[in-house]
Amino acid sequence: MTNHDINLHGKTAIVTGASRGIGLAAAQALATAGANVVLTSRKQEAADAAAAQINGSAIGVGAHAVAGDQARRCIELTIEKFGGVDILVNNAGTNPAFGPMIAQDHDRFAKTMDVNLWAPLLWTGLATEAWMGEHGGSVINTASIGGLGHEAGIGLYNVSKAALIYLTKQLALELSPKIRVNSVAPGVVRTKLAEALWKDHEEPIAAATALARIGEPEDVAAAIAFLASDAASWVTGETMVIDGGQRLGDARSYQNGALVDG
Ligand SMILES: NC(=O)c1ccc[n+]([C@@H]2O[C@H](COP(=O)([O-])OP(=O)(O)OC[C@H]3O[C@@H](n4cnc5c(N)ncnc54)[C@H](OP(=O)(O)O)[C@@H]3O)[C@@H](O)[C@H]2O)c1
Repeated sequence: MTNHDINLHGKTAIVTGASRGIGLAAAQALATAGANVVLTSRKQEAADAAAAQINGSAIGVGAHAVAGDQARRCIELTIEKFGGVDILVNNAGTNPAFGPMIAQDHDRFAKTMDVNLWAPLLWTGLATEAWMGEHGGSVINTASIGGLGHEAGIGLYNVSKAALIYLTKQLALELSPKIRVNSVAPGVVRTKLAEALWKDHEEPIAAATALARIGEPEDVAAAIAFLASDAASWVTGETMVIDGGQRLGDARSYQNGALVDG
């Protein structure tokens, strides 16, 4: 049996959408494990500011996740600076559309699908072509538990994340055996993107969650670092749910002897 630590020394990772939230925490977790990290944001200044917060080897690159030329340049810069790209975290995500599916217009549909679905495919293809196809690698997509279930109001976002989970499996097969492709599916995490979900509802959500709190970006980052590492060397096509038990349903009626009479 092999015992693998989460040791990423000598590896290089790109994390898209790393100016804050889960991406920033993932970049820190990868750097803590020893990787060189490239953090992207739509704005160079925001990427630089995020990289400056990392305790470890890090640079920031301004690159819109959907812009092919900017993605290609970021991957080239990464290889020039650090000599390779072993880990790709497709984390940039957006949720510009609320309301029922048939109320959506093509602009919101296209933006959601472009950032949440096309960008992971674009960056994975470029990283494969430039480095991973020859040297191997690990790709981690940030999906959502929304992609595994149904929720009122955020159907379009959830459709994009369900498709990302499917894409993860398809790429895991198509890029095997050299490249592993997995995703994480977070529940409600304390970030700007999800503010509408938790800001005025943190207490009731925490009360109904088996592990009694909403998620922090670091909870998801730890899973991303695991999937990036050789500790997960026999894991591919998988979607790891990181949700404190939210998908199990309301925990209150199970807790503190709630089912015990008297
Ligand atoms: N928070 C949750 O509850 C939750 C749950 C499940 C899944 N997720 C997923 O987690 C991922 C990270 O989101 P978060 O919650 O950490 O949100 P966040 O704190 O708002 O961060 C979103 C990040 O994505 C970047 N971004 C957005 N559009 C981009 C684009 N077109 N190109 C490049 N970067 C872009 C933002 O960078 P700039 O604004 O600086 O460009 C920012 O760094 C997303 O894929 C999201 O769907 C979040």
